Amino acid sequence: MPPLDPSSLLAALEPTVTENLTRHLEVAKEWMPHEYVPWSEGRNFALLDGEPWSVDQSSLSALGRVAMEVNLLTEDNLPSYHREVERAFGRDSAWGEWVHRWTAEEGRHAFCIRDYLLVTRGVDPDELERARMQTMQIGYDSGDKGLLNVCAYVSFQELATRVSHRNTGRYTEDPVAEKLLARVAMDENLHMIFYRNIVQAALELTPDATMRAITEEVLDFQMPGSVIPGFNRKAVQIAMAGIYDLRIHHDDVVWPLLRQWGIFELEGLGPDGEKARAELAEFLNDLDGQASRFVEQREEIAARRAARGRV
Ligand SMILES: [Fe+2]
Ligand SMILES: [Fe+2]
Repeated sequence: MPPLDPSSLLAALEPTVTENLTRHLEVAKEWMPHEYVPWSEGRNFALLDGEPWSVDQSSLSALGRVAMEVNLLTEDNLPSYHREVERAFGRDSAWGEWVHRWTAEEGRHAFCIRDYLLVTRGVDPDELERARMQTMQIGYDSGDKGLLNVCAYVSFQELATRVSHRNTGRYTEDPVAEKLLARVAMDENLHMIFYRNIVQAALELTPDATMRAITEEVLDFQMPGSVIPGFNRKAVQIAMAGIYDLRIHHDDVVWPLLRQWGIFELEGLGPDGEKARAELAEFLNDLDGQASRFVEQREEIAARRAARGRV
């Protein structure tokens, strides 16, 4: 079957979008971001005759600060993500309705994480503001991806964000931060389910093209936060802390979706689909090896540090 043109694809998937939007609106419970912020801890900064920020005011560890900041800056770039999904999904029908609903839900993530960090003096607010300006001025550009690629990418990305928020919350060992990030992660989970179901329908509708899109997005996957200043260094620190690393990416993000879609059980693929699936299998094998090597190296480094500590 030849690939569908973009408008036929949008039309063919529209009933699935309508169905999943309805389901989403039924299951997404209303929640109040301001309820998760410990406002009583807040005080003025220097301009209003308060106290300027200093690192000793933060109860977060250095790595906790890095992880919270990366999560927040990633959420901050929402205007660019909105533009990307609006370009792919359009403004009409259930697709457009989803774009706006999703954007409204995403908007609260940055608000409440920033509020938490400002009132608790968790991170340097000047540095945070400068990093936000830089991140948003770069923006985020997916490079005019087609609809199937966007749907595959956001499925992985929403799950990655859910895992990242959840693990960051646990890592802070602050019950307030953990509660807040767990709540944000629940939103990301519902977003993932929405996109996952669209991809599922696309696999039935146009299996070869969807298989190719999934393979491309797994092979090219990059977190949307990669435009954040110093992202590579920070991503290594986050991986070393076990908040988000290759093992987690392989086991908790990529595979759960591939399993849910039944990628390796799928029958009736044409030669293009089979080729894409074979490339995916080879990549996953390699990714698994890389993940194991990373974990081994991290354990060796930790053991060396521990041994030095004992001397
Ligand atoms: Fe979010
Ligand atoms: Fe999300």
